Amino acid sequence: MTDQVNPKDYPGKDVYAVIGNPIAHSKSPLIHEVFAKQTNQAIHYGRIFSDLNDFKKTTLEFFECGGKGLNVTIPFKLEAYKLAQHRAPRAQSAQAANMLWVENGQWWCDNSDGEGLTRDLRRLFKERGASLSGIHVLLLGAGGAAQGVIEPLIGAGVASISIANRTHEKATALVQQFSGVATKAQMNLKAVSLAELNNGSYDLIINATATGLSDASPISKDVLQAIIHSDTLAYDMVYGKETSFMQDAKALGITAVDGLGMLVEQAALAFETWRKLDLQKTPLDINGAIAAVRASY
Ligand code: ATR
Repeated sequence: MTDQVNPKDYPGKDVYAVIGNPIAHSKSPLIHEVFAKQTNQAIHYGRIFSDLNDFKKTTLEFFECGGKGLNVTIPFKLEAYKLAQHRAPRAQSAQAANMLWVENGQWWCDNSDGEGLTRDLRRLFKERGASLSGIHVLLLGAGGAAQGVIEPLIGAGVASISIANRTHEKATALVQQFSGVATKAQMNLKAVSLAELNNGSYDLIINATATGLSDASPISKDVLQAIIHSDTLAYDMVYGKETSFMQDAKALGITAVDGLGMLVEQAALAFETWRKLDLQKTPLDINGAIAAVRASY
């Protein structure tokens, strides 16, 4: 499988890749290419498709052939986390990894998804003359994607996070898991049943469910209307399409964005980690990378 990206084919370059199943449409190679150009780095970044049962074998081959680092995407984030001997705190909190690399003969993993989201949100709120500090967040979903963003959101200083999920028990389990961190940060973390979601006023609503991939939305337009105000931001973690959730939000007159900014920010964090750059001197142009991806559709 590593034939898709064989590091030996790129002498003089450090080789990276994104691995997943499916993987053909990943925008990670384009984003890393943009960052490499911006910072004059001699790297090659490709895509690796792995059979579902071959993740360990495929990654091993890549590193044995001299590969420097992998970004890991669906459905291997949990497996990547389990394979690593060293797990960054961010990966431990998410119980999943989107970065895997070898250093001094040992496997390391990290997770830049959650911080990628908060960086993107900070940028979006700043553009509106606001900040994440003290805001009220509704998080829709309680799967892996939701789990990975709770601690970074708490760290960003939000006032409250309400988690609502189709299977309510999973939302209460997440609240339990992060209650210590929330209490320490003196913020309010709670589970809200979807059926009771008919009032409230959220500043930010994040769709972290898998509904963005189909044509469904986790909440109806009527419910959405009941829980927003004119400045509420609707954020779907899926990228590359306008989801039903985003369409409903726009029809109700509020701003809705997809997760492309999060994708670019998590890539920037991986690039920074691996290339060990002084980004005070050479900051990455995030908006340039977002524009390059949008232009590629
Ligand atoms: P991921 O790692 O992408 O989060 P996941 O762990 O399988 O994937 O979680 C998928 C999330 O989307 C869950 O919160 C799931 O709700 P359940 O816990 O009830 O399964 C949610 N989800 C998927 N399809 C949905 C739908 N049609 N309506 C509402 N929520 C949905």
